[in-house]
Amino acid sequence: MPTKPAVLFVCVHNAGRSQMAAGYLTHLSQGAIEVRSAGSLPGDQVNPAAVAAMAEVGIDISHASPTVLTTDAVEVSDLVITMGCGDACPILPGKRYLDWDLDDPAGQDIDAVRPIRDEIRTRIEELLAELAPSAPLKLLQQRRSIVRASENIRETVRARYAAAAILAAVGEHEQARATETSCCGPTPISTTDPHARVVFGAEPYEPAAAEGAPDVAIAASLGCGVPTAVADLHPGDVVLDLGSGAGADVLISAHRVNPGGRAIGLDMTEEMLSLARANAAAAGVDNVEFLHGYLEAVPLPDDSIDVVISNCVLNLAADKAVVLAEAARVLRPGGRLAFSDVVAEDGMDAATKADMAAWTGCIAGALTITEFSLALTAAGFTDVEIRPTHRVHRHAQAAIIRAIR
Ligand SMILES: C[S@@+](CC[C@H](N)C(=O)[O-])C[C@H]1O[C@@H](n2cnc3c(N)ncnc32)[C@H](O)[C@@H]1O
Repeated sequence: MPTKPAVLFVCVHNAGRSQMAAGYLTHLSQGAIEVRSAGSLPGDQVNPAAVAAMAEVGIDISHASPTVLTTDAVEVSDLVITMGCGDACPILPGKRYLDWDLDDPAGQDIDAVRPIRDEIRTRIEELLAELAPSAPLKLLQQRRSIVRASENIRETVRARYAAAAILAAVGEHEQARATETSCCGPTPISTTDPHARVVFGAEPYEPAAAEGAPDVAIAASLGCGVPTAVADLHPGDVVLDLGSGAGADVLISAHRVNPGGRAIGLDMTEEMLSLARANAAAAGVDNVEFLHGYLEAVPLPDDSIDVVISNCVLNLAADKAVVLAEAARVLRPGGRLAFSDVVAEDGMDAATKADMAAWTGCIAGALTITEFSLALTAAGFTDVEIRPTHRVHRHAQAAIIRAIR
């Protein structure tokens, strides 16, 4: 069996360029190439701006650490690609050497690192076409199956919320909520906190916090918090609610942003949109709009929204990075994100993960606080704050999530 080609990337600190190149080649070659990286004078850690830039394209190099360049590493490689290690790189006979002239990301912010990352990707793709031309096909197949999986998840979720909307429309709110939580695994979702207070749906809405929404809209809530309570809304703001359901948070927002502002609800479930529009008509509110569409492809222009809110919806999405990127895209610079959602605990053991997987089997899964924070940062958000509010599962809590675009 022919052996795999081995490639070694070398720069001075092994903290930026060579780590990004190794990350790309490892990801794109899908095991067809043996990849190493090293530095002639290794730094203490990988440059955080390089980690963040790679996270934006879905490649995690956060666990990599700078490694010292040795003659052995050169010895076992077929191709050595230098990026400015100068004379410090050992030149051994029989090895192929390339020198890539790339800017050094050391000390630069993410805006400066992105073009370096993109240039590296172009070079890696050329290299791959030469060394392992069929490797990217594997990746394409994987992507197709991820897309198919997310379509399945979306359809399962849509059918469940269509049923919940039909029940809510005839006042069967308990049954509607049961539809939401019934498919869960051996440790079902808890709708009460340790003091037996109901913490899902309508209950968390104090009368003052619910101003603007009629009782029927509040009663049909399927959320896990009150995002409008922490969204800091002002008259004139344009608010978007992702996965707006029966519309309670949209109507509350519309009331708060008056005069001059408006609130938009986005949902994929027609039955929910009908219920929300009926609730808006009952409330006599006219600065609201309910749009049909997907969180993954928000049908609104760039920079058009002041505040994006959402109540217990991101955990339903298969590809959370895409949804957060869409939230960032539609928000104007300086715009705010305020979500209520479920967060899972970090560092679970295998048995717990299996239990969580069963629990989230019907809802695609909750992010841990660390994952949520990384995903928000990767989507371009700053000032990330994730504050757990109450426990909903042995290993998951509801939380308030805030960030600035
Ligand atoms: C848990 S309910 C929450 C509804 C509302 N936010 C509330 O607090 O009552 C989730 C809602 O998100 C919608 N939804 C879920 N995934 C979606 C997606 N990918 N695109 C658009 N809407 C989605 C569902 O149709 C449903 O109405």
